[in-house]
Amino acid sequence: MKIVAIVSQKGGAGKTTLAVHLAARAAHDGRQAVIVDLDPQATASSWGDWRGGDNPVVVAAPHTRLEATLAEAEKSGVDLVIIDTPPSADAAAVAAARAADLVLIPTRASAFDLHAIKTTGELMKIAQKPAYVVLNAVPPRSASLIDEAAEVVKSLSLGLAPACLVDRAAFRHAVINGQTAVEFEPSSKAASEVHILYTWMCGQLGVSTKKSVKTRSAA
Ligand SMILES: Nc1ncnc2c1ncn2[C@@H]1O[C@H](COP(=O)(O)OP(=O)(O)OP(=O)(O)O)[C@@H](O)[C@H]1O
Ligand SMILES: [Mg+2]
Repeated sequence: MKIVAIVSQKGGAGKTTLAVHLAARAAHDGRQAVIVDLDPQATASSWGDWRGGDNPVVVAAPHTRLEATLAEAEKSGVDLVIIDTPPSADAAAVAAARAADLVLIPTRASAFDLHAIKTTGELMKIAQKPAYVVLNAVPPRSASLIDEAAEVVKSLSLGLAPACLVDRAAFRHAVINGQTAVEFEPSSKAASEVHILYTWMCGQLGVSTKKSVKTRSAA
């Protein structure tokens, strides 16, 4: 069982968006996925209620129950756990990162947002796990912004995932019905971006992607 923690002390960075898209993409790949929702806002849990079904399963838990929740998942034969964490919650972020094989830190690409990931980056040093920044909600056709963001990420001694999610209506709209952008618009650029991020994540985790999906190149 592989575990991915999604952390960012900044609210609205895209933690839950990444969590539901990666978990559902893994389910499409024939893997049993679980989202552990450590956030009292319970956004991922609500998405799970709207979605129904059992792959991915969404389990709400306080971070003090994380270890027991993960042990239960392992016993049930789960392949992939994605831990969604609350903003501004050091203990939950560190607990998630400590339990994880890989940490993803979503951020928007503006200077203010990038500055804010410094705090998250410092916290992740405590956990000593591979941690990568994922640029999210990037404005379309903004190669220079991505280059600038890459410089900032490098200066913070963090890795940058070679895949980002662009700011697309599909990411906002799909989740309202418990869907993801991949299901909402299967041949869209949004779906392609999720596929590229998922494939890279699987590579980092040392697991193969089982099923190929039709993709288009990102903006
Ligand atoms: N790539 C994207 N394109 C368009 N909208 C996005 C994208 N990523 C996130 N959003 C929207 O931005 C808002 C915040 O995203 P999300 O809830 O995933 O962030 P979060 O980090 O989980 O927030 P919180 O810290 O409150 O838990 C949501 O309305 C979501 O639909
Ligand atoms: Mg959230």
